Amino acid sequence: MATYPSLLTHIFFYFLLRSFFISDAIVPPNQTFHYVNRGDFGSFESEYAPTYRPLPPFTFPFQLCFYNTTPNAYTLALRMGTRRDQTVMPWVWEANRGKPVRENATLSLRSDGNLILADANGRIVWQTNTANKGVVGFAILSDGNVVLRDSKGKFVWQSFDSPTDTLLVGQTLRVRGGPLKLVSRESVSNNVNGVYSLVIEPKRLALYYKNNMRYWSSTFPELKRKNVTIVNATLVVAGSEYEENNFHALRCNLQNGQFYEFPDLGLGQVRYNSSLSYLRLGIDGNLRLFTYRANVRGNAWSLLFTLFDRREDEFRMDFEDECQLPNRCGKFGLCENSQCVGCPKPNGVFAWSKDCDTKAPGCKASGFRYYELKGVDHFAVKYTGGNGPVKRRDCESKCTKDCKCMGYFYHTDKSRCWTAYELKTLTRVRNSTHLAYIKTPLR
Ligand SMILES: *[C@@H]1O[C@H](CO)[C@@H](O)[C@H](O)[C@H]1NC(C)=O
Ligand SMILES: *[C@@H]1O[C@H](CO)[C@@H](O)[C@H](O)[C@H]1NC(C)=O
Ligand SMILES: *[C@@H]1O[C@H](CO)[C@@H](O)[C@H](O)[C@H]1NC(C)=O
Ligand SMILES: *[C@@H]1O[C@H](CO)[C@@H](O)[C@H](O)[C@H]1NC(C)=O
Ligand SMILES: *[C@@H]1O[C@H](CO)[C@@H](O)[C@H](O)[C@H]1NC(C)=O
Ligand SMILES: *[C@@H]1O[C@H](CO)[C@@H](O)[C@H](O)[C@H]1NC(C)=O
Repeated sequence: MATYPSLLTHIFFYFLLRSFFISDAIVPPNQTFHYVNRGDFGSFESEYAPTYRPLPPFTFPFQLCFYNTTPNAYTLALRMGTRRDQTVMPWVWEANRGKPVRENATLSLRSDGNLILADANGRIVWQTNTANKGVVGFAILSDGNVVLRDSKGKFVWQSFDSPTDTLLVGQTLRVRGGPLKLVSRESVSNNVNGVYSLVIEPKRLALYYKNNMRYWSSTFPELKRKNVTIVNATLVVAGSEYEENNFHALRCNLQNGQFYEFPDLGLGQVRYNSSLSYLRLGIDGNLRLFTYRANVRGNAWSLLFTLFDRREDEFRMDFEDECQLPNRCGKFGLCENSQCVGCPKPNGVFAWSKDCDTKAPGCKASGFRYYELKGVDHFAVKYTGGNGPVKRRDCESKCTKDCKCMGYFYHTDKSRCWTAYELKTLTRVRNSTHLAYIKTPLR
């Protein structure tokens, strides 16, 4: 019984402290909001040609909106641009990809500091999980970061930590403690995760098709030489080395926390302050950088950088051919100089069309054979080592035993082997040591 009074004392102090901290943490009534997805649509052109409803939060040139590309399936997103640009305005951040909400859905900042997107029936679809964490206010910053701040101005939550397919200037990918990657959008009409991702890894930035087929990676010899690992990658605008001509350089800067010389991905230079720019992993798996010129009418957006491009550019060494894009030639096709130039069949190479495909080989080894193509690489070959050295026979038997294997790729000069579950775009290379063997049913 002797402990009873002291327990009461503890409870008393608990409530005293609790009320003290909570009153400290509460969002002032004039900062809370509750918006309903209802009413008139906006009438300016936005990316994916959706219908949309702008919400009041706006910081030039960013505005929160509900938009839909299929009826009654809305995404809460941040749009960049203003009506006077007279150009299509892109969506640079999204809260609820793959989890659309309907008419009458609500976005509310509660007094406890939690920002909640709820569907019309009240079901919570997305939230920042910031209840009772000291949030006192909400803001869209001028760089496009949507933040919940505490009384000291520190970000309790920021949209920069949850990118979808887009990085804004100042936004960072991190090897540890995320965000780790960008994921493409499935299609214009369907806003779910697509098959491509841009991932930051200790030794590189890499692009993947379906999580495990690498079709591009940055090559940073200095990282290898100094044996250091990357910790983060930030999209930045920097002064150009050539100061006299007033250029601003756009880069993806990689930091390792150990050296002064950081590798970077050069993304182009412009004469205007392009701090309003974004890097986008496209629906097609390509990586592009767009810059925005505020106060320009009609032509505010320009495409500054395309990783896989048919354009010849003698100054850009990072330049890649479109043939490196897994889906450039659809399900199957031979690609050369960014063009689909042939449909390789067992009895010869025919003209390419969208219908070009292989026939299902079946599982039984007695039911299929291989046909050979010379001077051909799979899109995954250029940036992955493959297996080896192995004999071609062993490479083949690995594919033969694997039902899902559609064919294999073999370099005779280095005895390396790649097996492929999907063939898609094959690149023609001027190299007779690069061979492809495609499964085809005997009947
Ligand atoms: C919100 O209310 C506080 C006082 O409670 C006041 O100081 C502040 O200026 C108000 N903010 C706005 C945006 O009205
Ligand atoms: C949205 O809510 C309003 C007001 O409650 C209601 O009149 C309207 O029918 C609702 N819209 C839909 C599509 O349910
Ligand atoms: C590179 O660094 C890692 C760990 O930092 C170490 O284990 C490895 O031995 C180093 N390699 C070389 C070649 O120095
Ligand atoms: C990136 O990493 C460097 C080195 O560890 C660090 O100093 C910097 O603050 C990091 N940047 C961000 C935005 O996390
Ligand atoms: C570019 O503009 C941003 C925002 O308007 C500003 O913060 C930054 O200092 C400018 N940079 C340069 C190099 O003028
Ligand atoms: C063929 O490829 C190998 C490496 O895979 C390379 O060393 C060689 O120079 C290439 N030959 C031609 C003609 O491109």
